[in-house]
Amino acid sequence: MTLTPAPLATAYRTARRTVKRVRAAVTVGGAFRDDYRRYVRESGTIDPAASRTTLRAAITERYHGLEKGMSLRSDRAVFGTDRIAELLALLDAYRERFGTDDLVRTCAGVFEAYLARAVGLGAALDEIPLLDGMRAVIAGGTGQAGLRHVTKADVLDAVDGVDLGFFATRASVRQFAGAPVTADQIRAAVEIAATSPAVCNRRFNRVHVLTERHDIDAVLAVQGGTRGFGDQIPALAVITSSLAAYWNATQRNQGWVDGGLFAMSFVYGLHSQGLGSVLLNWSKTPADDRRLRAVLPLGDDETVICMAGFGHLRDRFPVAYSARPAVEDILVPATTRPRDEPVEVT
Ligand SMILES: Cc1cc2nc3c(=O)[nH]c(=O)nc-3n(C[C@H](O)[C@H](O)[C@H](O)COP(=O)(O)O)c2cc1C
Repeated sequence: MTLTPAPLATAYRTARRTVKRVRAAVTVGGAFRDDYRRYVRESGTIDPAASRTTLRAAITERYHGLEKGMSLRSDRAVFGTDRIAELLALLDAYRERFGTDDLVRTCAGVFEAYLARAVGLGAALDEIPLLDGMRAVIAGGTGQAGLRHVTKADVLDAVDGVDLGFFATRASVRQFAGAPVTADQIRAAVEIAATSPAVCNRRFNRVHVLTERHDIDAVLAVQGGTRGFGDQIPALAVITSSLAAYWNATQRNQGWVDGGLFAMSFVYGLHSQGLGSVLLNWSKTPADDRRLRAVLPLGDDETVICMAGFGHLRDRFPVAYSARPAVEDILVPATTRPRDEPVEVT
């Protein structure tokens, strides 16, 4: 068969497209492989006692189960005995290696609240399972933990004056005034970020803040998404989640969920102080991730969620603006499928 020039060109284009697609798929596979290796190595999947952080995460999950149980509308005086047994074993392992610290005292506070509640609900102290173990932890000193009683009036008071304007006036800012952001302002934004919810209360995020020009420039050179404004960003936060806070297949993406929530709260923490910010993506290849780590020291367990450039607002400045999706396009008044409807789940 002789090929005329036109079919030859088409065959060439098709071959090129195929090679490009195969290459893209192979690159995705390589990135997943690297992610998989990191997750298995750094998370608590293989060994919950692999590191201080994996142990802290396992302990946090267990004590939070007790806190959560106490916050329910239930009058079961004694509950969670298996969980308490696991927690006591984990605490033994932790104290042996790291001594009694804030986390142990937090657990002690939870045990104290648990026992007080159980007695308040009529349980005989001596009949509460694992009492001695809990008392031994309490004897090391208790920290603030357990339950906090909230009134609706306090919440309404606090949110009075917060309206759509607070949210609608936040926009990604790519022009900043020159004044440096103060250490107190940064601390306040981090404190607000630290109020974010996290799965089973596992709050293992970090904010690496750079305020020196050459540091910011070095990191942004790897980030690559600030052409035209990176040199004007007065402060840069690199927000991470610790993979050591998670375990098993089910939690493999949890760091990005918790980290994303944390990042949003950080941005609102800046916004609430009248500071501007722009989130900067870290959707990168493993090779770029290694390049960043060569520039900025990060723990092996830390995975970068995103960055945030931030600074003072200019008196007047433009922001990119296009209409947000309509509520009708987002809001789905949902119902479940009829029970007898056959469903093919792929
Ligand atoms: C995770 C994340 C990463 C982002 N990365 C970049 C970036 O690299 N460069 C940039 O100019 N803007 C970045 N943005 C800002 C978005 O472009 C911006 O949020 C979006 O256009 C909506 O505009 P708004 O923030 O003003 O509401 C990022 C936003 C998010 C949430």
